[in-house]
Amino acid sequence: MKAIVCREFGPIEKLRYEDLARPVPGVGEVLVEVHAVGVNFTDVLAVEGRSQLKRNFPIVPGVEAAGVVLRTGPGVTSVKPGQRVLGTCISGSYAEEVIFEEHEVFRIPDDMDMRAAATFYVASMTAHYALHDRAKLQPGETLLVLGAGGGAGLAAVQIGKALGARVVAGASSEEKLVLAARFGADAGLQYPKGPLDLAGQKELAEALFTHTKNTGAASPVEVKISSVRDASGYHVIFDGVGGTYAEPALRSLSWEGRYLSVGFAAGVPKVSLGPILFKNAVVMGIQPAEDIIRQPGRSPEAMERMLGWYAKGLLRPDISAVFPLRDAAEAMRLLAERKATGRVVLVTDRAG
Ligand SMILES: NC(=O)c1ccc[n+]([C@@H]2O[C@H](COP(=O)([O-])OP(=O)(O)OC[C@H]3O[C@@H](n4cnc5c(N)ncnc54)[C@H](OP(=O)(O)O)[C@@H]3O)[C@@H](O)[C@H]2O)c1
Repeated sequence: MKAIVCREFGPIEKLRYEDLARPVPGVGEVLVEVHAVGVNFTDVLAVEGRSQLKRNFPIVPGVEAAGVVLRTGPGVTSVKPGQRVLGTCISGSYAEEVIFEEHEVFRIPDDMDMRAAATFYVASMTAHYALHDRAKLQPGETLLVLGAGGGAGLAAVQIGKALGARVVAGASSEEKLVLAARFGADAGLQYPKGPLDLAGQKELAEALFTHTKNTGAASPVEVKISSVRDASGYHVIFDGVGGTYAEPALRSLSWEGRYLSVGFAAGVPKVSLGPILFKNAVVMGIQPAEDIIRQPGRSPEAMERMLGWYAKGLLRPDISAVFPLRDAAEAMRLLAERKATGRVVLVTDRAG
């Protein structure tokens, strides 16, 4: 079978389209013929050697795909050969065939095509886990989504709306803000491409406040942090961008606000804890993959809720570009260069 192979860390251009041995499903595993693959920012980190997850060479990148079950290993009961499925894995989906563990695979609804299915799991599950399970976002609360025109960001905008929040989208271009508005964002704020110096960070924090309403009782004592004084700010912030955007975002939290650290597309942030302490705020790390393994049953429940939203048109990936599997590097470059909007998809020759 054909696959995209990384034999040493380095630039995306070093990836090769090669023949690899067909994988064989073991106990509890499902072999899937891949029709479409969702491209994620984490794939870029994995091949450049910037991922926190250790993988052995050769690495086949890719954490999600959709296709048809070819074979199942001993003990698998929930799916059978011939069924259309979507799934997630630690790596390996940039290939014509991939192995998923049974608990990582879900049947695709009849009205969902392979491309939408291939991009449904990771972004939606991450945003659902962050907003529903961790932040416990409430109807009427104000949510800020940074990187709102990207894959996980756009899922967070839609899930924020599905949960009844007022959603403010932050993105670096007008095009991304228009997309976020089309998917339900109530307001948008264009921030500079960065990195931001201290003056730029202060300016962004002030700009972020202009989109928040008063969210609670004002502080009875005089404090220097304006959002503590007048009780404005975001109840929840979904941040998959990090870098020099994280500190202004933290400063724009409300009293008891929840800041969700989802990813570091702009680099790992170094932030002051001042705004956290003075606002009784909470910083949450978001790592759904690990938690789902630790708490089996969590992902089927989430998938059922998310597919319900899909059926109602409330949660839909926006696919902006499609490439053949062999051109994976070109697809990944769109994300690495911050040019992707919504989702980018790879299709294999097996898609027919
Ligand atoms: N914790 C988890 O389990 C989990 C799961 C999925 C994704 N993530 C993380 O969530 C983030 C989004 O992932 P994604 O797959 O949705 O990627 P994506 O579509 O490429 O979105 C990333 C966004 O980050 C922003 N960005 C800011 N600086 C950037 C830079 N220097 N290079 C590239 N993008 C930059 C871009 O928006 P603007 O240009 O508008 O700023 C872009 O839309 C990533 O940090 C990823 O690692 C984490």
